[in-house]
Amino acid sequence: MTLSVTLRRPDDWHVHLRDGAMLAAVAPLTAARFARAIVMPNLVPPVTDTAAAKAYRARILAALPPGSSFTPLMTAYLTDTTDPVDLEAGWRAGVLTAAKLYPAHATTNSAHGVTDLALLAPVFATMARIGMPLLLHGEVTRQGVDIFDREAVFIDDVLDGLVAANPALKIVLEHITTRRAVEYVRSAPATVAATITPHHLVINRSDIFRGGVRPHLYCLPIAKREEDRLALRAAACSGDPKFFLGTDSAPHSVEAKECACGAAGVFNAETAIEVYAQVFDEEGALDHLEAFASLNGPRFYGLPPNEERITLVRAHRDPPAPLAAGTTRVVGFPDAPLAWRIA
Ligand code: DOR
Ligand code: ZN
Repeated sequence: MTLSVTLRRPDDWHVHLRDGAMLAAVAPLTAARFARAIVMPNLVPPVTDTAAAKAYRARILAALPPGSSFTPLMTAYLTDTTDPVDLEAGWRAGVLTAAKLYPAHATTNSAHGVTDLALLAPVFATMARIGMPLLLHGEVTRQGVDIFDREAVFIDDVLDGLVAANPALKIVLEHITTRRAVEYVRSAPATVAATITPHHLVINRSDIFRGGVRPHLYCLPIAKREEDRLALRAAACSGDPKFFLGTDSAPHSVEAKECACGAAGVFNAETAIEVYAQVFDEEGALDHLEAFASLNGPRFYGLPPNEERITLVRAHRDPPAPLAAGTTRVVGFPDAPLAWRIA
């Protein structure tokens, strides 16, 4: 039985750090575990250009504990009117690392998202030329498409054409949830990769309704069937460089989650790396954890892997206690004890 595993310090290639009191509460948790993180731009109002990303980065750095070496990697939220000249300037200035595409109304704070991909052809051409990755929330928003089919329909109706039309564009299909997505990414060109969250490796859609509705397990894309969860575990644990760590840690106040119309998002910043270790252990794949957590992401983004190491040990870890954030609290994932913790 493996008792410990040491790996290069991981990065989180998809996280929501929010702003204000929530940022102050959650940023130190991510910064204590990850060397770098791709920070989502879906604030209110969204971070749509270089100037806003630079100002947001400064607020994140100000929220870190003294001496933290954490590097937030900033993203721009694409809209119908994104200026490719600004994106390129932000990239060249080292402010922007990637751009995020939310189909309009796909999820939390996506009302300003893109309504017609054709409008973004010049943006995609610029991104492909400079090597800036496009990060996709891969769900269609069309009325009438079942919530459990939105990712698969996105792949067929949107992604396939986008990949064909932009062969040089690096694309990350974020937080994949289906066997279909695993198969698509595996068979796609090397320019296409995917992130996988800890919670989608652990829960399926039945868990959201285990004994009653569990709002803290509701996120978008929503967890799918057991066969999908098993396909995600196989992909993450395979060592395939196309799959890497992205927690999608998405904190919401307890009031916003536990109400008549609860917000989407699972908050896992405090336990994500432990959950991944537990999953890889259960799959007999701890030797592939470093590739998934610390090597595949930097390689896809063209960044060096981290030199520092962390060690995870097999030891009981209590589930996270609710985190105080300003005048509210955030309930974390999971709601059960864990078998691994950071040494
Ligand atoms: O569940 C989600 N929560 N999915 C997203 O895409 C956005 C996120 C959030 O910002 O809360
Ligand atoms: Zn997200």
